[in-house]
Amino acid sequence: MNSLFSSYKLKSNQIKNRVVFPPVVCFHYSGNDGIVNNRNLDHYREIASGGAGIVITEATAVWKEGRLAPFQLGVWSDDHIEGMSRIAATVKSQGALSLLQIHHAGIIAPESVSAEVKCPSEDEKNPRSKALTLNEIDELSQAFIQGAMRAREAGFNGVELHGAHGYLLNQFASSYFNRRDDDYGGNIENNLRFATRIIRGIRQKCGSDFIIGYRLGANSPTLDDGILIAKHLEQAGVDLLHVSHGGILQNLPRTPAGFEFNWIVYSGTVIKTHVEIPVIVVNEIKTPERAALLIEQNMADFVALGRPQLADPQWVNHVRNHQEPIRCLSCKPKCRWYEDSSLCPARNRAANPNQ
Ligand SMILES: Cc1cc2nc3c(=O)[nH]c(=O)nc-3n(C[C@H](O)[C@H](O)[C@H](O)COP(=O)(O)O)c2cc1C
Repeated sequence: MNSLFSSYKLKSNQIKNRVVFPPVVCFHYSGNDGIVNNRNLDHYREIASGGAGIVITEATAVWKEGRLAPFQLGVWSDDHIEGMSRIAATVKSQGALSLLQIHHAGIIAPESVSAEVKCPSEDEKNPRSKALTLNEIDELSQAFIQGAMRAREAGFNGVELHGAHGYLLNQFASSYFNRRDDDYGGNIENNLRFATRIIRGIRQKCGSDFIIGYRLGANSPTLDDGILIAKHLEQAGVDLLHVSHGGILQNLPRTPAGFEFNWIVYSGTVIKTHVEIPVIVVNEIKTPERAALLIEQNMADFVALGRPQLADPQWVNHVRNHQEPIRCLSCKPKCRWYEDSSLCPARNRAANPNQ
């Protein structure tokens, strides 16, 4: 297990171990104003006290009409800074690196959030979809940059741009969604122009030590594209890549015979061989042994475990102390914590073993 507990230097930060708490949106915690409340704060206090080296705060909206739900946290105005600073301080007080995931849902924004949905290209199957004009692209790139500036003011060590799971940045990057024929579509450089502007803008406004992470949809639309996107992002100035999926479950790479993890982890390990910057891999890693193997064999620089740390917020401390963590029960068809955090059966069973 020692590999999991080796430290890692990223810019001026000494990260205490290789375990990441990935972004996990807390549905129904905050209200329509997107302002952090005590429930959000208690959640991050509990998670950060569990020992992860990096804690990435959940998808936080840079644009009110681009939310994925009406109760999503926001960073679209200065009113959000104070609450965010409480999360950043809590995470840092536990010795973890704090990143804020900044997000726009693009075409996935529901009607409860906005009548029209803004995206790279209109989708004939979605009458609410409207292609962004060049002026709107300028406005939205500023919204991401300002979101990062607010994160910095709140005390976060950096941001993670949400470029995966089929959301706006993923929609621009992938030719599956992006059918523009102007400077923002048509080839990889154009598809990534929006992201590149945001990355360069954040670097200019937030300084060289501010960490810019990017959550990448590996199959966007194929793993070969994912590799090119990763290289391009590295060139553009991204410091840390977090490899997940691209929302659309097509063109899934085949894992080689004997590979013990799923195609999302596999994609991260492949992308790691094409870039110099550190790579986080994620998805169904599940156990300490599997997590340690990925680091030991240099297949990843960091491992993110989401549901395992929801089921057992003390997951990292338990592993370090050679104790068995509470095991996530992998609820199907969907994580019960996702629906309502009080419904997680693994946590409830551990709290009331006799029931
Ligand atoms: C309740 C819940 C909320 C999530 N919210 C986000 C989010 O805000 N941003 C994001 O990029 N991924 C989100 N995800 C995906 C996780 O970050 C992670 O990639 C996924 O759970 C797979 O990792 P795991 O198998 O270790 O849980 C969420 C997942 C869950 C279960």
